[in-house]
Amino acid sequence: MTLLEQLDIKHPIFLAPMAGVSTPQLAAEVSNQGGLGSLGLGASSAEAARQQILETQALTHQAFQVNFFCHQSSALDHDLAKQWIQYLIPQFEKYNAVPPTELECIYPSFLDHDDYLNLVLETKPKAVSFHFGIPHPHQIQALKNAGIMTMVSATNLVEALAIEAAGIDIIIAQGIEAGGHRGIFNETFDSAVKTSDLVQLLKKHCHLPIIAAGGLMNGHQAQRLIQLGAEAVQLGTAFVQCKSSNANAAYRKALFNTPITQITESISGRPARGLINHWHTQIDRPERPNVATYPYCYDLGKQLNAAASAQGDFGFSAFWAGTNVAQIREMEAADLVNQLVLEMSQTQ
Ligand SMILES: Cc1cc2nc3c(=O)[nH]c(=O)nc-3n(C[C@H](O)[C@H](O)[C@H](O)COP(=O)(O)O)c2cc1C
Repeated sequence: MTLLEQLDIKHPIFLAPMAGVSTPQLAAEVSNQGGLGSLGLGASSAEAARQQILETQALTHQAFQVNFFCHQSSALDHDLAKQWIQYLIPQFEKYNAVPPTELECIYPSFLDHDDYLNLVLETKPKAVSFHFGIPHPHQIQALKNAGIMTMVSATNLVEALAIEAAGIDIIIAQGIEAGGHRGIFNETFDSAVKTSDLVQLLKKHCHLPIIAAGGLMNGHQAQRLIQLGAEAVQLGTAFVQCKSSNANAAYRKALFNTPITQITESISGRPARGLINHWHTQIDRPERPNVATYPYCYDLGKQLNAAASAQGDFGFSAFWAGTNVAQIREMEAADLVNQLVLEMSQTQ
């Protein structure tokens, strides 16, 4: 059975799960067109995640996948947090705002409890994927027993081998070009392998199907990665502009006007690639202290963005985007899937 048959999809095209940007409508449009739609649920409570899954199931009978974060949770490091808040005080002052004195753990990990697992077992999407790490063995086993396929992001060979050893079904090879958070397991280092190199490396050393993600904006680029050994491709940035995504007007505008991206850990505490803005030009200065840990740092980043946005300054927003964002096209999700399929078929 081929991977497409296992996933019950027609085209080797995955919509990247994008917490904050994914919607049931966007997922369903991609799935109804024969790709694999997705929901990024890492920032949602179990109840909000349930609503999104049920809504997607009402919009499509086709397969889709849901995505959660598997970071290693840690208690707040008060000293680091205090230092980080202190460093950002002048930024808050610019918008007549006051930073919080304590930071909250705004995103629980899938590893912390089984609420998300139970939700997945109950609602039974075709597949579930994980970012930042691998679920516990009992969670993997429960998903296997329920016939739900599992996928985990890898950014280098070591992570991919660990994914394979854990009994996961599919590896998402996330290259350094990718928009959004790096899927790195250990947030203190990043091998920064480019997508085409990662696909070739994993193809050589791993047995699992590989899905290529990072910097793919058209079907020609996608087909080249399939020729290098990927079974399918996953695109995020290309779909953010779709009307059915949750991106706000400022994000949509910036996607077409700011074609340069950089990686910073200052927004959330973990490295992530987005459109260049105040975080890269004002915060990531040589004298910057170490950031507060993820996701506590993100609590502060979101509050600074809220204060600045309230005054019409969107320079502290997390406008995640991949390196090839300059190639973005204004297109509805169904048309984009069709266009990708056409371009793939035209690529030698
Ligand atoms: C706006 C945005 C949000 C993202 N959120 C998630 C997420 O919640 N979970 C996840 O596994 N990957 C997330 N990613 C990363 C994607 O899965 C994928 O690696 C990336 O989009 C591929 O690169 P591209 O954006 O150049 O297509 C996100 C990417 C973007 C652009």
